[in-house]
Amino acid sequence: MSKQMWYAVEFSNAISTNPKSLKILGQDLVLYRTSDDRIHAMNNACIHRGAALAQGKIAQDCIVCPYHGWHYQPDGTCIKIPSQSATIAIPKAARMTTYPVQEKYGWIWLYLGDGEPGELPDIPNFPDPKSSSIRSIQGEFNWNANYERVLENGLDFAHAPFVHAGAFGNPDLPEIPNLTIENYPGGASATVDLAATPPKGLWKLLVKGERAPIKTRTGFFLPNLTFLEVYLPFGQLTIWTAHVPVDLQTTVSKWINFRNFFTGKWADGDTYKRTIKIFEQDKPIVESQHPQLIPVDLATELSVAADTLQVQYRKLAR
Ligand code: FES
Ligand SMILES: [Fe+2]
Repeated sequence: MSKQMWYAVEFSNAISTNPKSLKILGQDLVLYRTSDDRIHAMNNACIHRGAALAQGKIAQDCIVCPYHGWHYQPDGTCIKIPSQSATIAIPKAARMTTYPVQEKYGWIWLYLGDGEPGELPDIPNFPDPKSSSIRSIQGEFNWNANYERVLENGLDFAHAPFVHAGAFGNPDLPEIPNLTIENYPGGASATVDLAATPPKGLWKLLVKGERAPIKTRTGFFLPNLTFLEVYLPFGQLTIWTAHVPVDLQTTVSKWINFRNFFTGKWADGDTYKRTIKIFEQDKPIVESQHPQLIPVDLATELSVAADTLQVQYRKLAR
């Protein structure tokens, strides 16, 4: 796992003036918003005695440790130690390590590396969440698996007829036609016409007669984003997911599902259930993959044509 990259780690709307703890790449952090609407990240363990700052509160844009009330500014400097007289100088070493944070595409992005971070990825196909013709919902899913295994599952067409039979894979037509691969800065995508399955539930209302193959595009942006665009006969469904590496064996997928059909709130529950069902079908398989970490050497696991996008990911990630 490279620390020299921006990771999408949390939903924008999950961070408020209440400090929130977050574990990323094995590191315990606290994130919070200040009165100017900016987001800040620093180590969670107070440098005084290690209490969790996330259990503290924000006062005048400082995070206040819940144990002895030391006040830290957003830049990490301690400006108040309540147990000592204000006339006594605060030690220079009284400072928390902070990390660069940005907010874009509905997520908080964090940089844990050394030196100056580069630019965030530019994502031209990200749906406009302000568009009135698009409805979006968000959710999370937990995995006991490495984020690269989880991410690759999102790029894998060939498992659909087996793992998602009935949902969107057709078990009678498991052959994957030629993938159209597109490379772009920071990632790659593949487009394919997938064999359709008979619609179920609410979607039956929208489909009449035989179903033609469904154009499906999936892709990634390094280090931890995937997307899925499904061109259904009645509209487009798009799912963007940040696969957040909590530690080597734990991942939280924070997904945003966009749809331009059934745009009323009434269909949110159905969309949510469909999305979680897919993740639940994937979970036991992905958690069973061995070794847990993707082998460094590309030749260790055997790849076939349907795995081309995953191979692109491995090449770029390495
Ligand atoms: S542990 Fe944070 S102020 Fe003492
Ligand atoms: Fe899947």
